[in-house]
Amino acid sequence: MSWIRKFLSVVYRRAVAIKYLLTPAQTWRKYQRLEIGSGPIKRSGWLTLDYCRGADVVWNLNKRLPFPDGCFELIYSSHVLEHFEPKQLRSLLSEMQRVLKPGGVMSVCVPDASLYVRAYIDGDPRDLLRHEPAILSDCPMDYLNYIFYMDGHHHMMFDEKSLRWHVTQAGFREFRMRAFDPTMDSEVRQYESMYAECVK
Ligand SMILES: C[S@@+](CC[C@H](N)C(=O)[O-])C[C@H]1O[C@@H](n2cnc3c(N)ncnc32)[C@H](O)[C@@H]1O
Repeated sequence: MSWIRKFLSVVYRRAVAIKYLLTPAQTWRKYQRLEIGSGPIKRSGWLTLDYCRGADVVWNLNKRLPFPDGCFELIYSSHVLEHFEPKQLRSLLSEMQRVLKPGGVMSVCVPDASLYVRAYIDGDPRDLLRHEPAILSDCPMDYLNYIFYMDGHHHMMFDEKSLRWHVTQAGFREFRMRAFDPTMDSEVRQYESMYAECVK
């Protein structure tokens, strides 16, 4: 009987591998909206992508996106861009630009580093330091280390000017700051975030 168990286990593993290989190619056609770095969620009307299990497409954003050119109208990311080193960020932004339709929009939410710089200058962290593992001390310099390193998870920080620069370098035609949008953005992140829309 053990050969049957072995056989079924091989079939099962192959089926899982094939499902993951086919998923990106199969699913993009049904969606106009893509969220990258979504975490393990499903979102009605959206295709979600993350390297953790539970997203619609399980994929590493350091690889070429598994979609053809010009297939989405909207791409959204919340607290994701700061997780990439400069070279990786450049490729990722170019990839997002590639898979957007002409006139399509990349809508981003990132931590606003200028809030932390102000907190450092004023010597007052206000209510900014909320993620326990990233809090180092009550020295003002560590308000900056908190957001710039985030316990090893962050690699790049942005203010309005630098975000505009990076996005423009990736080939986006227009860049504008936008307000918090409750239909898309998380309220939990609002206190430290800035929002922008970038048009292909
Ligand atoms: C700070 S969380 C943000 C999650 C969610 N967007 C939010 O606003 O709550 C960053 C997300 O980016 C994902 N992520 C980071 N690097 C990634 C990579 N190289 N490929 C795919 N996903 C990645 C993580 O798995 C995580 O879900």
